[in-house]
Amino acid sequence: MGSSCFSMLVLLLLLLLGAFGVWGASDFRICAFNLQGFGESKANKPKVMHTLVRIISRCDITLLQEVRDNKMKALPQLMNLLNSYDDNYMYDFVASKRLGRSPAYQEQYVFVYRTETVQVTGQYQYPDTLPGDIDAFSREPFVIRVKAPKTAIKEFVLIPQHTSPANATKEIDSLYDVFVAVRGMWKTENVMFLGDFNADCGYLPKKHRKNVRLINDHRFVWLIPEKVDTTVRESTSCAYDRIVVHGEAFTRAIEPLSAKPFNFPKEYRLTEEQALDVSDHYSVEVCLTSGSPRQQSVSFPLLLLFLLLACAFICS
Ligand SMILES: *[C@@H]1O[C@H](CO)[C@@H](O)[C@H](O)[C@H]1NC(C)=O
Repeated sequence: MGSSCFSMLVLLLLLLLGAFGVWGASDFRICAFNLQGFGESKANKPKVMHTLVRIISRCDITLLQEVRDNKMKALPQLMNLLNSYDDNYMYDFVASKRLGRSPAYQEQYVFVYRTETVQVTGQYQYPDTLPGDIDAFSREPFVIRVKAPKTAIKEFVLIPQHTSPANATKEIDSLYDVFVAVRGMWKTENVMFLGDFNADCGYLPKKHRKNVRLINDHRFVWLIPEKVDTTVRESTSCAYDRIVVHGEAFTRAIEPLSAKPFNFPKEYRLTEEQALDVSDHYSVEVCLTSGSPRQQSVSFPLLLLFLLLACAFICS
């Protein structure tokens, strides 16, 4: 095959990819980010805020964890910056109350979302203790129900969790009980768990995993695998931050291979020190497919057939 023939084929391929909307289709991205003590001190660092805005504005919805904004000033500041960053999108948020066993150390879960693509249609704060139950979580999930009309799945539930490292195994296991409660309440199977589970290294030892229902029940799919690193420090490699989906329909609505940590220090060329000013975690993310799965499975074989015909025609 001559080189001009080859370049024509490449051009054709690019045109076709464009025509079939493979590149044009905008992904719906869900992210989870542990901001490592987000409050006034970070809000007073313009570079840190700028990086946060860049990271969060990539996503249709982001779960922020470790929001420790006692005076409720840092979060509004972040929202203002987000809303003046990109003219294409407006952002809003929903936040849990301050959660934690000790009054001296509390955190909020915050979901920041694009108002154009996301509607929050329900909120549910998992209770501190249920009758006859132990106090399972340090920070009980603040569960939301989301409508996202542009995604194939349309509507789903997000269960956030930032475990306390010392009790990570038990807390991850207890997410199963949250799932049962939420499924009963909202009659839906489409549930995603996300956040800093501390689900690796010393906090979730291999020998304990067989007792964790979210791991040994195969209806739950762990999208961020064990081998990845979600930590910023070069000296650590742990998959603490995870995304887990329940059910076949939700699993099918996931863009293949899209679940991964977002290595913001590398993307934005930050030194380790600059990155650690932002957080000691990467954000993690996953994309949902937009169209119906059927449309895609038809268009790709067609695309291939067309290319083969074009190849035979041009190169003969
Ligand atoms: C771990 O769980 C136990 C039992 O629920 C609780 O008493 C303890 O405070 C928890 N530890 C942390 C660090 O949250």
